[in-house]
Amino acid sequence: MAAMITYTSSLIYLLSLMVLLFSPFGCCSDSDPLQDFCVADLNGTLSINGFPCKPISKVRSSDFFYDGFTKEGNTSNGVGSAVTPGNVLTFPGVNTLGISMNRVDFAPGGVNPPHIHPRASETGVIIRGEVLVGFITTGNVYYSKVLKFGEMFVIPRGLAHFQMNVGKGKAMVITAFNSQLPGTTILSLALFASNPPLPIKVLTKTFQVEEKVINDIKSKFIF
Ligand code: GLV
Ligand code: MN
Repeated sequence: MAAMITYTSSLIYLLSLMVLLFSPFGCCSDSDPLQDFCVADLNGTLSINGFPCKPISKVRSSDFFYDGFTKEGNTSNGVGSAVTPGNVLTFPGVNTLGISMNRVDFAPGGVNPPHIHPRASETGVIIRGEVLVGFITTGNVYYSKVLKFGEMFVIPRGLAHFQMNVGKGKAMVITAFNSQLPGTTILSLALFASNPPLPIKVLTKTFQVEEKVINDIKSKFIF
């Protein structure tokens, strides 16, 4: 009898493990929708994993269209690039659908600085210009290529990556994600412009430099 119980528990354990490993739910991207749509009510007071739905009676055609990418982003900043997001916060129609996009504009020489999306893989296509796209694996291997109009790239989820305009004129890229809100950690800001700031000793020890070097870098991030 005891052997039977042990056998049954092991079987249940194995089955649960397989469900966890191979199920599309909760594995690798946002969870599947349970209804046709759920236009986000960004002012909802409920705190859930995502946003509550706007009542269907209030849903309009305009909820499913977004013109945020029709205008060039303002690249007059230190890095010479601008990301215009088309995620659930700017385009509530994507709520629960597990997708979003960005428009990224670059001045000549502009860089979209190294960053990470904790909740999504990214793909993208070059619309204008010549762009160096690169990412670094968890084993510190760097992959990169210079891309032109119509060429695509992919950035595996959670890996540090960047794009840089290496052409003569402006550049523009459209990116897409398998999350309604991929999240973005810009590495330079996380380390040197967090709030409250990281203890300086952590940074001097990490980079093995004097405080002055850290303070010089930090001074660049005072907006
Ligand atoms: C580009 O890397 C983007 O996050 O849109
Ligand atoms: Mn990105």
